[in-house]
Amino acid sequence: MRELILGIESSCDETAACILEDGEKILSNVVATQIDTHASFGGVMPEIASRLHVNNILPVLKECFFKAGIEPSELSAVAATTKPGLIGALHVGALAGKTIAEYLDIPFISCHHLAGHIYASEFASKFQFPLLAIIVSGGNSELVYMEDHLKFKLIGETLDDAIGEGLDKIARELGLPYPGGVQIDRLTKDQDITPIRLPKVRTNGYNLSYSGLKSHTIRLIRESKSKGELDENKIKQFAFSIEKAFVDQLLDKAFKAATDLDVNQIVLGGGVSANSYLRKEIIRRNNNRFTVTIPPLWCTTDNAAMIAKLGHHLYQKKCFSSLDCKIEASSSLESFSIKD
Ligand code: KG4
Repeated sequence: MRELILGIESSCDETAACILEDGEKILSNVVATQIDTHASFGGVMPEIASRLHVNNILPVLKECFFKAGIEPSELSAVAATTKPGLIGALHVGALAGKTIAEYLDIPFISCHHLAGHIYASEFASKFQFPLLAIIVSGGNSELVYMEDHLKFKLIGETLDDAIGEGLDKIARELGLPYPGGVQIDRLTKDQDITPIRLPKVRTNGYNLSYSGLKSHTIRLIRESKSKGELDENKIKQFAFSIEKAFVDQLLDKAFKAATDLDVNQIVLGGGVSANSYLRKEIIRRNNNRFTVTIPPLWCTTDNAAMIAKLGHHLYQKKCFSSLDCKIEASSSLESFSIKD
């Protein structure tokens, strides 16, 4: 009998559902994004996000079943993001998932959002352990070592801002719309821009730090503005300089970790993994040393296919959750690891 997993994601500003067959074949993948609404506020407004999830969840689920051409009764299990994320937003998707699982008397699988971002790369290539996962999003910048499926060891993380958060804040200072990381990429992609020199940040171990670079660049932008020099070329130059400084720091640490830990594969995940400079630079620097796996572009920002993929692995290991499992705004990835 075929395995059909319904994945549900609602941790931030996307309401999404996906039906995945036998862990490989996507029968349908629906995403309702709220970006346009939040853009007018310059960032995600949690209360508005929750309300929009409530409006969107049923239409998204209906469309998901319709496009997949299956009946709910054919499902094997429901996997939903239960942590970490905006608490009200998480509750909407998780409650919908629990309700479907309870009604159909099938397993409910609680999913960790960041584990989902890692598993997005499995739509590009199978995992070869041990691997190093680089998770870069609006809320997280983490280096994670995995010796096997569903075993996560945090080896480095940002000590302050996440990389996407930093890019978004600088983009706002440059007068670019939300989400700024996307706009910075659009402005700088395939262009020959000479970056300005930014200080090199030192952190211990494999940790990262973006807030000092961000504040320094914001100061430079304000100076440039006050002198009336912030024209289109200068905006592009600031955008590329900070994108390069952020990505270079990340890749310096990531390749050092990958070499020290002697991994077979490096896997990218999270919204910022859509960034063109990062995608190009990781391949250039790698120079065929490790297998580098980059998620398909459609699977970089929040979606439910990555949750269904993670759900598939948990289903195979019979890692089911009770219907009263906790919904958590913050939760470490390590604590989500399965036990032997
Ligand atoms: O993973 P994600 O969709 O949401 C979470 O934070 O969980 O990531 C959103 C972040 C935002 O900061 C956005 O600016 C950034 O990813 N982002 C990008 C690109 N696409 C999305 N940053 C740089 N280049 C991109 N192409």
